[in-house]
Amino acid sequence: MADSTALSPGCAASPGAVSRPSRVISITSGKGGVGKTNITANLAYILSRKRKKTMVLDADTGLANIDIILGLTPTYNLYHVLTGEKTLEEVMVRGPGGILVLPAASGIGEMADLTRGQKLTLLDELNALKEPLDFVLMDTAAGISQNVMYFNLAAEEIIVVVTSEPTSLTDAYALIKILYQRHAKKRFRLLVNMARSAVQAREVFERLNHATDHFLNLTIDYLGHVIYDAKLQEAVQFQKPIAELYPAAPATRCLRAIAETLYHEKPEVDEDGTLRFFRKNILTNGRE
Ligand SMILES: Nc1ncnc2c1ncn2[C@@H]1O[C@H](COP(=O)(O)OP(=O)(O)OP(=O)(O)O)[C@@H](O)[C@H]1O
Ligand SMILES: [Mg+2]
Repeated sequence: MADSTALSPGCAASPGAVSRPSRVISITSGKGGVGKTNITANLAYILSRKRKKTMVLDADTGLANIDIILGLTPTYNLYHVLTGEKTLEEVMVRGPGGILVLPAASGIGEMADLTRGQKLTLLDELNALKEPLDFVLMDTAAGISQNVMYFNLAAEEIIVVVTSEPTSLTDAYALIKILYQRHAKKRFRLLVNMARSAVQAREVFERLNHATDHFLNLTIDYLGHVIYDAKLQEAVQFQKPIAELYPAAPATRCLRAIAETLYHEKPEVDEDGTLRFFRKNILTNGRE
């Protein structure tokens, strides 16, 4: 690992952990600025505190900021893994609560610049990790760029973050439509952020679900909401997860409820009984 916050070699995997299934979840959105990075960082923090080995993969290769939100200054990043210069273990750093962070690549604009072989390097590195992870949370960029598609296709589960703004909903719809129609992704879970109330959040979900059901013949699932909370903005200023800084804040309670849901779910398992980090077959055979 890269620096003093790195994982010490003594932190060995617990016995029997090798067969433990891991879940790869992308946290994505159509529109920018809806709260993906904060949600990812906080869910990772809460899951890590609950002794789930959790890695955040900063997949926003444009404006990387999970390291800023967590107050980290990493030396290496995803780019070095993708190009094979460093191993995943050399690049990962430890954040608050024991989160493992794979910092975003600076130096590549688009994943399109990378060769197929380079993209597969990341998958191989994840599959080869000595310490199996319980969760890999991928904080993607907003929109429908090739980068976003790559990480969403690689994920086993997709959480789409929206706010109540109409543009956030139309952009989320566009993202879901492409992932469903062009890439055969069928399972989407909606997280409504900056909600004014649970009722309002539900209504936002119903609106989007109605549209996907009507026009795409696809129903989406509701994961939950995070309430609008000025304390979250304060936590950003302090470069700490709100869940760490303000454990009793309303937004923290919402984030904890969502983390609980993820914590208690049974991961979907492959035919061979394992859940692989990435759907390599999609990346090798399908459209990217
Ligand atoms: N629940 C919330 N309550 C209040 N403010 C929030 C909440 N969630 C996010 N914010 C505000 O929105 C800002 C943007 O959040 P964040 O950077 O996590 O969004 P993002 O979706 O990752 O953005 P980008 O698309 O640019 O990556 C935060 O800095 C914070 O000020
Ligand atoms: Mg972000």
